[in-house]
Amino acid sequence: MKSSIVKKLIAVVSVATIAIGMVGCGNTAKNETAKSSTSSLDAIKAKGKLVVGTSADYPPYEFHSSASGEDKIVGFDIDIAEQLAKDLGVKLEVKDMAFDGLLVALQSNKVDMVFAGMTPTEERKQNADFSDIYYTATHRFIVRSGDETKITSMDDLKGKKIGVQKGSIQEGIAKDNFDAADVKSLDKIPDLILDLKNNKVDAVLAELPVAEINVEKNSGIAIVKDLVVKDPDGGVAIAMKKDSPELKDAINNTIKNLGQDKINQMAKDANSLVE
Ligand code: ARG
Repeated sequence: MKSSIVKKLIAVVSVATIAIGMVGCGNTAKNETAKSSTSSLDAIKAKGKLVVGTSADYPPYEFHSSASGEDKIVGFDIDIAEQLAKDLGVKLEVKDMAFDGLLVALQSNKVDMVFAGMTPTEERKQNADFSDIYYTATHRFIVRSGDETKITSMDDLKGKKIGVQKGSIQEGIAKDNFDAADVKSLDKIPDLILDLKNNKVDAVLAELPVAEINVEKNSGIAIVKDLVVKDPDGGVAIAMKKDSPELKDAINNTIKNLGQDKINQMAKDANSLVE
């Protein structure tokens, strides 16, 4: 009686072992341990698709445009993602979500990478790997026209309502400098611009190219010229799951091959698609 249970158990175990072995073969062509970091890059190649997460509210980095006749997510981050997909020989899929949810999506395997003008802060580096920095910009306040000449220091903004994107480093900068009660965080930049126009916030902090394009496309708002906010992490990078060295090499190669001049030019060119 007992021995037959043992036999059955042995049978079950060996079937399981074979099954695990087969899964291992299917996932990786190489005879390495199945769970090593080969998986990130190989998994993307195996499914033939690179799934990228973004928050498409941040021109020229990423934004919605129907300039081509249909609504599309475009921007120089997306151009870089397209180049990476091409270099890997896979298709590109872009998922638009709240900026705040991007690293969570990465963690839970909903996306392979995050292309979102994301600053590689020390805090974020605890949970994600980052590519080399591919673009740098300072941060500026956008205010209602007429206010831009009244502000030359953070002190001039004390007691005012500051609008920032939820989960962004601008939110951190605002909270470091102003009362938490004066900082309003929203998911998407266009909603902050609307709040600014409707007197619900008095200033919105964003990266300079984003501030510039929003001021160009909206009447009644302007950039504070005399207050430049720098961030210690200086610049933006592409996020991927921790311990993905092969994927990191791939994206760093794509960035290197494009080159800084080309990327800067792509950022400028993206502005023509903003509606
Ligand atoms: N660079 C800032 C950060 O990393 C803001 C990025 C916002 N990006 C966006 N796609 N909305 O926090």
